[in-house]
Amino acid sequence: MNLVYEKLKACYDDIRRKTDFVPEIALVLGSGLGDFADNIEVEGVINYSDIDGFPVSTAPGHVGQFIYGTIEGKKIICMKGRVHYYEGYPISDVVLPARLMHMMGAKILFLTNAAGGINPDFRPGDFMMLTDHISMFAPNPLVGINIPELGVRFPDMTNVYDPELCEKIQEAAEDSGIDLKEGTYVQTTGPSYETPTEIRMLKTLGADAVGMSTVVEAIAGHHCGMRVCGVSCISNIAAGLSDQKLSEQEVIDAGNAAAPMFKKLVINAIKRF
Ligand code: HPA
Repeated sequence: MNLVYEKLKACYDDIRRKTDFVPEIALVLGSGLGDFADNIEVEGVINYSDIDGFPVSTAPGHVGQFIYGTIEGKKIICMKGRVHYYEGYPISDVVLPARLMHMMGAKILFLTNAAGGINPDFRPGDFMMLTDHISMFAPNPLVGINIPELGVRFPDMTNVYDPELCEKIQEAAEDSGIDLKEGTYVQTTGPSYETPTEIRMLKTLGADAVGMSTVVEAIAGHHCGMRVCGVSCISNIAAGLSDQKLSEQEVIDAGNAAAPMFKKLVINAIKRF
């Protein structure tokens, strides 16, 4: 068997020794949404470090836990803390959690993140729903022997972000009084932020927001048949588009400031799924 699949199966078998919970929705919490799980009727918590072979996140502000239970009557599993490529993990480890939640039964993968705004209409504190992405600046998680148990060798990527879920997220935004932006997200490897020239290049290529996560998870989720959707919290104006220097603290502070509205949006969206 393929080593990547073997590791995934081993994590799945270990999870199943701990819980028989079958989620409908998998939610990955980005910066600022860390305490989202307070809104869940929690059935259980599993620390990543307690799952045999599971990649444990080292990023600041990222606790490593699966929290599962119900919200708005829906069975949900949340990732409090994700694994980033810049932490040094192979890309197959970065997408292992998304695949694991698929194996547990999740049909919907809801990805959230903090991102730098490239579109001149975006301000810190805005939310952008992902309608498409640019993946070419991060390693593709499907490189290597294909895992047919998960999906096909050459998956179509025309509609990675499920149009029906996107419509529901827009409705949820209207209902929450949020002027939800839409656009294309580009993933870079990080951990350094972009240079002003890189941002000009990404803008020319069609990107509206930039960050260091999400796209690889979206590819892996779409590959294995999950319906994917995503929302970015614009934490800062991207490099060179304002006078300000970028700092991690700025990203974390903006995430925290936007958190109440972000939570409202996500809960209202999940209600409609
Ligand atoms: N660039 C890359 N990643 C980010 C940014 C940014 O400006 N803001 C938050 N995550």
